Amino acid sequence: MSRKEAKDSVTVEEQEPLLASKRTDLSGRACLIWKNIWVRTKSGRDLLKGISGVAVPGEVVALMGASGAGKTTLLNTLLQRNLKGLTVEGEILVNGQSVGKSVTSVSAYVQQEDIFVGTLTVREHLMIQARLRLPSSFSAKQRVARVEEVMRDMMLDGSQNSRIGVPGIIKGISGGEMKRLAFVTEILSNPPILFCDEPTQVVHEIIC
Ligand SMILES: Nc1ncnc2c1ncn2[C@@H]1O[C@H](COP(=O)(O)OP(=O)(O)OP(=O)(O)O)[C@@H](O)[C@H]1O
Ligand SMILES: [Mg+2]
Repeated sequence: MSRKEAKDSVTVEEQEPLLASKRTDLSGRACLIWKNIWVRTKSGRDLLKGISGVAVPGEVVALMGASGAGKTTLLNTLLQRNLKGLTVEGEILVNGQSVGKSVTSVSAYVQQEDIFVGTLTVREHLMIQARLRLPSSFSAKQRVARVEEVMRDMMLDGSQNSRIGVPGIIKGISGGEMKRLAFVTEILSNPPILFCDEPTQVVHEIIC
């Protein structure tokens, strides 16, 4: 992916003064900046060439590019995941600070392919996730309420008692429901930053 493809109408430099003024008053929200990101394979192939961008609270940032352009590679780089065998250069800042792998503490990542325990039902899976992901201040009743709220929002309440299954091996929920379940799992804790690979698959399933 080239810098030109990733750039919006407003440049990083133009947004910096705005971000500087917002940094002091983000009140639990997170502002993400990535500057001059280069990702190289061991054999010397450049997968990302000097990519820069900004994600401001309250805004949706869309990365568009052809298959193989490097969208997933950029998301993995911002989250410092799945980078074995790659060399990464550049700066990644959350609220003006370089946070390294701690970016995961203010974000959630809906990956292009997700892995579930296929023998659980949708509701069982989400209840386990709610126990793991929601703060300990949440009561059991509040956890159930949150799970039911997100299932309703993503139209999964109808299949809440269906087994998730394993594609091609154990019959379970549909591919679209599985994609929505991955999304719901990540929004459960209402993270400040949500990274989503191929989000249009979720939107497409809901519209259809
Ligand atoms: N660890 C790696 N080692 C070598 N090459 C890699 C590695 N990860 C990704 N690539 C290559 O980098 C390029 C970009 O891959 P990436 O998965 O980021 O594309 P994408 O834009 O997400 O594509 P799609 O829309 O098909 O999901 C591809 O040519 C891919 O083969
Ligand atoms: Mg991809």
